[in-house]
Amino acid sequence: MCDKKNDKHLTDFCEVTLWTGPGPVPRDELLGNVENKHGLFCMLTDRIDSEVLDKAGKKLKIVATMSVGYDHIDVNEIKKRKIKIAYTPDILTDATAELAVALLLTTSRRLLEATGAAKIGEWKSWSPFWMCGPGLQNSIVGIVGVWPSEKAEAKEIGAEKVCFDELLTSSDFISVSCSLTPDTKELFNAAAFNKMKPTSIFINTSRGGVVDQNALIEVLENGKIWGAGLDVMTPEPLPLDSPLLKLKNCVILPHIGSACIETRKDMAMLCAKNIVAALKGEPLPTELVL
Ligand code: DGY
Repeated sequence: MCDKKNDKHLTDFCEVTLWTGPGPVPRDELLGNVENKHGLFCMLTDRIDSEVLDKAGKKLKIVATMSVGYDHIDVNEIKKRKIKIAYTPDILTDATAELAVALLLTTSRRLLEATGAAKIGEWKSWSPFWMCGPGLQNSIVGIVGVWPSEKAEAKEIGAEKVCFDELLTSSDFISVSCSLTPDTKELFNAAAFNKMKPTSIFINTSRGGVVDQNALIEVLENGKIWGAGLDVMTPEPLPLDSPLLKLKNCVILPHIGSACIETRKDMAMLCAKNIVAALKGEPLPTELVL
């Protein structure tokens, strides 16, 4: 949270009220400290809604989130109040793509299950089909959240643009990286999962809300799909009694898609730069324009 002061580097330029943790800023701390601030630096763990905006008051010029996702922000309410919104697109794409591949292979090649087995003495000998899983080579990977606008563009990256139904029925692996919007909310519901191949694997590194989680649990429990690897779910953190945590064919990660040290530093810096630009009245490096 920043108060405009003078025109130097970030901490000289701003008076900063900082939550240093542990964990996300508690709601009452946020509400108690946001008053009269000119800029708000937030994360996906902070719900920014009219209650926060009312508390902040009329001086607030910018809400900048250290994330590419912005489903935790009431975008319409913020825009209505003529407050700018900034986010951190692109710079976490590589880190998140790496994680998606790692999660896919961890799920398909049963890495956690295999390590677990080795640790508790279940590794008796090498065995022809022990700990086998589907291979990635020659498989069809359906990606939801890459939007090549033209067929030719898709071809350039060795891909083919298909409709959602075809993606569901033809893919061996489905990897989801789209934003959570009203259009994508629970896009993966029982009907969608039931169209997937029984040998297929579902990977989600976007937002838990894109999935009807009960439907996913059901298809995993009944073996209607082969497995799932989830970096995101609903809610986060996932309660310890969630059936997802008991399933052998489901790998759970604690929302670490962008968790590369350099990436997180870049995201923090970009978020701060957006705030400085807004306070100086300059164009924002990465304004969210919808
Ligand atoms: C984002 O930025 O939205 C990711 O989910 C966390 O890095």
